[in-house]
Amino acid sequence: MTERIGSTDIESLVITRFNWDYAAKQPRLRALYEKGKAAQWNAVTDIDWTPQLHYGAPLTDSPSTGAAQARRPDNCPVPRELWNDYRWEYHAWITSQFLHGEQGALLATARLVETAPDLDDKFYAASQVTDEARHVEAFSMYLERLGHGYPINPALHAMLSNIVSDSRWDIIYLGMQIIVEGLALAVFRMSQVSGFDPIIRQITRLVARDEARHVAFGVLALEGLSNELSSREKSDREEFIKESALLMSRRFRLEEVWERMDINVAAGVEFATTDPVMCDFRRLMFSKIISSLAKLELLTEGVREHMEQLSLLRRSVGGRR
Ligand SMILES: [Fe+2]
Ligand SMILES: [Fe+2]
Repeated sequence: MTERIGSTDIESLVITRFNWDYAAKQPRLRALYEKGKAAQWNAVTDIDWTPQLHYGAPLTDSPSTGAAQARRPDNCPVPRELWNDYRWEYHAWITSQFLHGEQGALLATARLVETAPDLDDKFYAASQVTDEARHVEAFSMYLERLGHGYPINPALHAMLSNIVSDSRWDIIYLGMQIIVEGLALAVFRMSQVSGFDPIIRQITRLVARDEARHVAFGVLALEGLSNELSSREKSDREEFIKESALLMSRRFRLEEVWERMDINVAAGVEFATTDPVMCDFRRLMFSKIISSLAKLELLTEGVREHMEQLSLLRRSVGGRR
C-alpha cells in the first residue's frame, strides 16, 4: 500500500489447550477440513493480474459495473462532477477494509488453533490460517497496484481488538467466524458479480469460496453451545453480539471517505445512514450473520430488537422492508 499505517499491539490472556485425544470426533468438521485442503489456490498464479488498472479512470454508468453506485442518488452530498472520484475512493476504502479484516481473520484463527478444545477444530483452524494468509496476500497485492489505500476503519479496529483480546474461545468463533466473516462473505459475493474491476471480481470470487467454508466452520463449532451456557454466559454473548452489530454497521458511515474528499462529514454520514440503497446494502450484508445466529439459537429477542433498531433486519420474503 502507498500509506504506511504502522502497527498495533493487543494484549490478551491466552489459555493454550493441548489435547491428547487424537481420534476424529466431528466427522462434518473433518469433511470440511478435507474440502479446505483440496480447495487451496495461489494468489500469484490463479489470478489474472494482467488487466490494467488506472485509478480515477472514467467508469461507465452501467449498473453491471459498480452496481448500486453506477448512478448518483439525488440526495447525495457528493457533487455530480466528483461522482466518478467518489466511486474510486469508495472502492479503495472498501478494498482496504477487506485487507485489514483479512489480517484480523489471520490472527484470530491462529488464536483458535491454540485455544479451541478439540483437535478437529485445531486442524480446521490451521487450514484456515493458510487461507487467510492468501487473502491478505491477494488484497495487499491488489492495493499495491491500485496505489491508493485507507487505514483500518476505527469501528473495524475496535471489533477486531475485541475479538483478539478475549480469552474465551467461543467469543473468537462468534466474533470472527460468524460476524466478521459472515459479513465479509455477503460483501464478497456482491463484489464478485458487481465489482467494476475484473481483478477484484476474481479475487472476491476465490475468497468468497473460502469464506463460505469458514462461516460453516463457525456454525459447526458453535452448534449446541447455546444450550450449554448459563443464563449469565448467554447474556454476555448477547451483549457481545449487540456491540458487534453496532460496530459493524458503524463501519459503513464512510467518515474517512468524506474527509478525504473534503465533503461535509455530517452530511456524508447522514447520507450513508439513510440512503435507501445503502440501507439495503447493509441489510443484505447482515443477512448471513442473522441466519447463522438463528441456527445457533443466539438470535434472541434482545438481539433481534437491537438489529431492528439498527435497521439491519430484512423482512421475510414477500414482506415489506
Ligand atoms: Fe478471509
Ligand atoms: Fe475467512
